[in-house]
Formats: sequence, structure tokens, C-alpha cells
Amino acid sequence: MIKKKCARRFISYLFLKTSLKISNFHSYLCVTEAIKNMLFQIKSYLTFLWHSKNEHAVHSPFVFTLITKCFYDKKPKEDYLLLEKYRQSLLENTSTIEVSDFGAGSLVFKSNTRAVAQIAKTAGISVKRAQLLYRISVYFQFKSILEIGTSLGLATSALALGSKLTENEVKITTLEGCPNTMAVAKNQLQQFKFDHVDCITTQFDSYLKNDKIDATSYDLIYFDGNHSEKATLAYFELLIPTITNDSVWIFDDIHWSADMEAAWETIKQHPKVTVTIDTYQWGLVFFRREQPKEHFIIRT
Ligand SMILES: C[S@@+](CC[C@H](N)C(=O)[O-])C[C@H]1O[C@@H](n2cnc3c(N)ncnc32)[C@H](O)[C@@H]1O
Repeated sequence: MIKKKCARRFISYLFLKTSLKISNFHSYLCVTEAIKNMLFQIKSYLTFLWHSKNEHAVHSPFVFTLITKCFYDKKPKEDYLLLEKYRQSLLENTSTIEVSDFGAGSLVFKSNTRAVAQIAKTAGISVKRAQLLYRISVYFQFKSILEIGTSLGLATSALALGSKLTENEVKITTLEGCPNTMAVAKNQLQQFKFDHVDCITTQFDSYLKNDKIDATSYDLIYFDGNHSEKATLAYFELLIPTITNDSVWIFDDIHWSADMEAAWETIKQHPKVTVTIDTYQWGLVFFRREQPKEHFIIRT
């Protein structure tokens, strides 16, 4: 019953996403590709629903506690209102900006005028995911966070708010290639007093190829930009030297395309990776040496 409801909701969401792309196809995907991609995602979501489980099928205490205390924590939180306020102020922003498009797989640098409100509506994290990211941030008490793909800072605000609750001195570094998009995000984050966020305008490659990266460690890395197999695996390899036993990595859109699914399979097989959790939208990766290698597929 729950699975049927999830499938119905997901298919209407895909139709909405696909029609957005079709109305805009000169600058993005062609219609056939969009439909092919939609069919791929329907198949992939049905496969996910078929294999996915809830906490009752999980024997690992680490994963069980994460699921029950964090993923499935349905209690309302005051901070969600602030997240909503952040989103709302972007949705009410009537200005337009020139965006530099680094879309997945695109080697051509395109320039487009876009409404800030439209970017907030289509490119950012959903309300539900932002709340989950907030809870993950509170749950693990991260001290050092790297976000790859800022856009307007919707996910950044969830990370910033969640990590603000900890006793620790927290630093969030967020990377964005488009200077105009980053300018809006930076201004927005400042208005909300998220002073522990360091906004860096850079191409991901050039930041991650810097030799200083090897000497850094991040408690959380949120990968949410350039959703192609090649780029995802390249970032994965470049960042492997930064892991600690407690690092948590979250990959967005692991089932977005056959390419991204292939990247996810490769990541799961990596010898340093122990536990993974596939929530359909996200792939969570853990490197805890005390855990046996195990891959979970969990409905959230
Ligand atoms: C999906 S959006 C990020 C959404 C954001 N994390 C959120 O949830 O609100 C991805 C962002 O990454 C940027 N981007 C994509 N590829 C990039 C690259 N190779 N270098 C720098 N920025 C890139 C895009 O400009 C876009 O703003």
C-alpha cells in the first residue's frame, strides 16, 4: 500500500520535472532524451521500492539507530520554520541573473538568464530532504563540512542550521562555479547570519585538485553538482585521501541516470567503503572500519 502510494507520487513528480525540461528543451535535454530518462527513472524507482526495507530488516546497530533516531524522526522542529523562511525569501525574489551552466556531461559553457525564484524552485533540495539533511547534521554533530554545489544555498542553510546546534566550532565550505548564483547565495546566507559558511566560487575540479586538499579532513561531504559518472568518480577519488573513520559522504541523485547508477555501483565496491545506504535520492557512504561491508536500501 505504502509502496503503491510512493510510486504514484513519484511518477507525478517525474512528469512535472520532465514537462519543465520539455518547455525549456533548447537549452537543456531534447524531448526524446527527457522521456527516455523519465522511463529510466520510473523503472529504477520501482526496482528501489521492490528492494527497499525499513528499520525492521536492519541488524546493524549503527544503521538501525541512524534510521530510527534520525531518518524517521517525524517530530516537528522550530528550525524547520527558519529553513522555510530561507526558501520562501528566494521564491519571492523577482530578480534575474545570468547563470553559467555546468550541467552534467556538458562540455560547452552556456550562459542563460534565469529568475532566482525559478532556480530555487527547480535546482535546490526539496523541503523534505532539507529537513533530513538538517537532522543528519544535528545527529552526527559534524565539525567540518564540504558541499559540492551551492546553487542558492538551500541545502547549505540546512547544514548550517543543523551544525549550529552543536557545541563544536563548525566550518562549512561550499563550492559553486557560477559567480552570479554564488553572489545570491552568499547574500542570502549572510542575511540569515550563517557566518560559519565559507562560500567559494570555483570550478569543482580546480578546487579539488589543489594539493592542500590531501591535508584536509571533512566529517561530511555533500556531493550535489555535476551529476555525471565521470565527474562523480573523479571527485570521489580526489577526496578519498581526506577520509577518516567517521567521515560521512552523501551523493545526490544516484539514480538520476544509468550513468549515475553506474557511478554508485563503483563507489559501493571501493575497498575503503564499508556501509552504504541507498535512499533512492541519496547514497550515503561510510568508511567505518569496524563495520562489515554491507549495502542497505532504505525508504525514508
Ligand atoms: C543541483 S545544484 C546544487 C543545489 C544545492 N546543493 C541545493 O540543494 O540547494 C548544482 C550546482 O552546482 C554547480 N555546478 C555544476 N557543475 C559544476 C562544476 N563543474 N564546477 C562548479 N560548479 C558546478 C551549478 O552551477 C549548480 O548551481
